[in-house]
Amino acid sequence: MSIRRLPEHLVNRIAAGEVVERPASALKELVENAIDAGSTRISVRLSNGGLDRIEVVDDGCGMSPADIALALERHATSKLPDDRIEMVATMGFRGEALPSIASVARLTIESRTRGTDGWQRVIDNGSVERDGPCAIPPGTTVRVEQLFGRVPARRKFLRSPKAEYAACMDVMRRLAMARPDIGFAVEHDGRRVLGVQPGERREERVAAITDRALADNHVVVELEREGIQLTGVAGLPTYNRGVADHQFLFVNARPVKDRLLTGAVRAAYADLLARDRHPVLALFLDVPPDMVDVNVHPAKTEVRFRDPALVRGMMVSGLKRALDGAGFRSVQRPDAGAMTAWQVESVAPAPSPIGAMPIFEHGATAVLPSARLFADRRTSFSTPSWSPAPMARAEPAAEATPRAASFPLGVARGQVANTYIVAEAEDGLVLVDQHAAHERLVLERMRRSLAGAGVPSQALLLPDVVEMEETACDRLEARLAEFAELGLEMERFGPCAMLVRATPALLGSGDVQGLVRDLADDLAEADEALSLRERLDHVAATMACHGSVRAGRTLSVAEMNALLREMEETPHSGQCNHGRPTWIKLAHGDIEKLFGRK
Ligand SMILES: Nc1ncnc2c1ncn2[C@@H]1O[C@H](COP(=O)(O)OP(=O)(O)OP(=O)(O)O)[C@@H](O)[C@H]1O
Ligand SMILES: [Mg+2]
Repeated sequence: MSIRRLPEHLVNRIAAGEVVERPASALKELVENAIDAGSTRISVRLSNGGLDRIEVVDDGCGMSPADIALALERHATSKLPDDRIEMVATMGFRGEALPSIASVARLTIESRTRGTDGWQRVIDNGSVERDGPCAIPPGTTVRVEQLFGRVPARRKFLRSPKAEYAACMDVMRRLAMARPDIGFAVEHDGRRVLGVQPGERREERVAAITDRALADNHVVVELEREGIQLTGVAGLPTYNRGVADHQFLFVNARPVKDRLLTGAVRAAYADLLARDRHPVLALFLDVPPDMVDVNVHPAKTEVRFRDPALVRGMMVSGLKRALDGAGFRSVQRPDAGAMTAWQVESVAPAPSPIGAMPIFEHGATAVLPSARLFADRRTSFSTPSWSPAPMARAEPAAEATPRAASFPLGVARGQVANTYIVAEAEDGLVLVDQHAAHERLVLERMRRSLAGAGVPSQALLLPDVVEMEETACDRLEARLAEFAELGLEMERFGPCAMLVRATPALLGSGDVQGLVRDLADDLAEADEALSLRERLDHVAATMACHGSVRAGRTLSVAEMNALLREMEETPHSGQCNHGRPTWIKLAHGDIEKLFGRK
């Protein structure tokens, strides 16, 4: 077989296979071109999820008729004037997006530079169909119709209009967040679905595009090291989501989905969130161009750093430091379902054992409207059963009742269901999940001791033998030194058992068997690639869970207040180790609303 050069239209179509995967990727290329053209406003119109039509209108520099023709040739670009690809400062640089799209769709370019007339060129799946003058304002309009319309092998891999639309919006959100200086508008099937004005501040833009609630539930990230800058906003761990679709990461104003960066985010939130929960954040890395290579992925959504360890370290410590600053803050967004639970019960007759019992100290006999509210810690507010047994209890407070005003989490007034502490703060009613809160405090104490002289351990009177599968024992044996550092001393005891000699003093000699088994399970799941520090933290979190006050234990008022005061002083005490809140507040205003006083 003899070798031949492929004709240009085939070369383009092959390239299109990499660059244009679906409507969203074509849209991304067009909007990036509009950004590179120095536009101040970019409007996008989509039909049927972009499957039928994608149109991008910009007010940028425009192109002359000759440039339009060149732009459609492969490897023709205006963006590398001096051949130095490593110093690229534009979104595009390869000169292949337009010819690729033109080879697999009907593409119309209309463009006009300032002071000249407009020009239009239409290309249908690779062949020029029209070339001539047209009337448009300065700038460029590019329209893509029937993407893959004549490439059935590709068209059939496209998803539903709804899914393609969602992917287009994801692209738009990321680009709009990257460039708050530019105004963006998106219309889908004639409906306005996004609109942001040019010249916004970065935080405003992020909040406008993600969720207004992020504005109240974030910390600011700001760090500079060796010429690299990290800025942005990170959501409080309790403000989390079930999918990682709200993590917006940018390198030099380019939206990226980079494994190194997402891994660093994961590490920073590791013991603040359950593994299946994800934080909401927008982080912007600004790196000198020669320290990062953006030419490693066909869609340019991955990058390669010259010093990956430096970047990762910066991300982890920048995020952690910012989150440390959050102290005992927790997301304050009362669950809508929970609020309805209050309202529903307010008309139901209160069962006497609860109804007769004073819950609050000073005079007023308040009735908790719903035992249901406190019934189950996990499914918190929606469990429809309540138990008629007394679930609330109060005891006289120590002589001088401390003033609620002086403490952010207020003064303990009682305990409900042996699980929740009810406290009165100056501005509302605070409920604390005692197990979740205590678990967090134990973890933070362990961390402090780890940073200092190490975690003191306490020898067991009799060493405890824990029998387990051989593989579980192998995993534990490989980490004996780490456990010892955390105060857990054990050794291998035959093929299928471990012998535990001492446990961390903080935990007391509770459920040794359960602790060791959980650790083995945890190691099976944990990422081997975690650093020693991260693994230690991880193990400490598992241990903390075992050592904390379980739900269901009666606490004295003094104990409750001690817990509240420790929470106020402890970093991250607003969430348990799995990212659930440890406390919630019902503000006075909310209470008044519940009673119809407002
Ligand atoms: N909206 C626009 N306004 C002005 N010029 C544009 C516009 N879109 C494209 N161009 C010109 O057409 C050229 C080719 O665009 P194309 O997207 O194919 O390649 P590129 O942006 O240079 O590189 P890449 O393939 O990496 O996107 C650009 O270099 C630019 O000069
Ligand atoms: Mg381009």
